[in-house]
Amino acid sequence: MKTIVTIADVRRELDGARAEDRTVGFVPTMGYLHDGHASLMREARAETHLVVASIFVNPLQFGPREDLDAYPRDLERDTALAQAAGVDVLFVPKLAEMYPTPVLTTVSVAGVSEPLEGAARPTHFAGVATVVAKLFAIVGPCRAYFGAKDFQQVAVVRRMVRDLSFPVEVVACPTLRERDGLAMSSRNVYLTPDEREAAPVLYTALRAGAAAIGAGERDPAAVRELMAGIIDAEPLARLDYAEVVDADSFLVPDPLTGNLRLLAAVRFGRARLIDNVGVTV
Ligand code: PAJ
Repeated sequence: MKTIVTIADVRRELDGARAEDRTVGFVPTMGYLHDGHASLMREARAETHLVVASIFVNPLQFGPREDLDAYPRDLERDTALAQAAGVDVLFVPKLAEMYPTPVLTTVSVAGVSEPLEGAARPTHFAGVATVVAKLFAIVGPCRAYFGAKDFQQVAVVRRMVRDLSFPVEVVACPTLRERDGLAMSSRNVYLTPDEREAAPVLYTALRAGAAAIGAGERDPAAVRELMAGIIDAEPLARLDYAEVVDADSFLVPDPLTGNLRLLAAVRFGRARLIDNVGVTV
């Protein structure tokens, strides 16, 4: 595995591969890698010839009171994990080359960016879409792998690719979880031992909501209240939102029907965790 720091060098490497008819798989990350990230890299390894992963903690997607400065970093460990997952090129751009001047051009995706995470974090998805657009422009034609853990992010990126004709095929991969159901996340390191023990309540609530729909519940408010009740019963958890939406439009069907996604965000101390599950009526 090669680590590449400059945009010019990574372009040269990937253009060279494509000139030899090799396909490129791309896994964008913010580092502090865990097995969820590795699962995307392994999928890319299985489906493409040359796998590039990026590590870049993107300041644009953090709000003013969020955890940009505290965001965990460990490039040495990340390098070993990426190598073991089959990455060929690790792209670790410098902040000064990614954003040499204040950003005047941003990409924002209306509609799917607006509810849920978009409502809770108003500048977040424009920050994500802008950096992913830059990374796609740097990496070039590829298959790009994203985790369903960030379900709304995948929808935003897919829509951006369609609207702006990026030569990229977006692939969504399933959420990897710890044994007790907690979705793997770089932010899980913020949890104290007590909070870590309480954190699986997020997935428990989502599964309970999905099970109620499976058992015939069609009222979105009832599903919301069921999930909120489970989360509120955990003293260390503070509910941000728990919602059930149409998986494509992110609107709330009433009565519930079609391909649904249940999504929630919960704070445990200084950690804000998100998760989601799907259910079809
Ligand atoms: P990051 O949080 O580092 O996640 C990188 C990728 O790993 C995302 O596609 C995310 O959905 C996926 N991922 C995270 N946890 C996962 C899990 N438990 N199972 C499966 N996949 C998981 O998401 C970002 O970074 C950034 O917003 C980024 C897209 C890199 C833009 O800055």
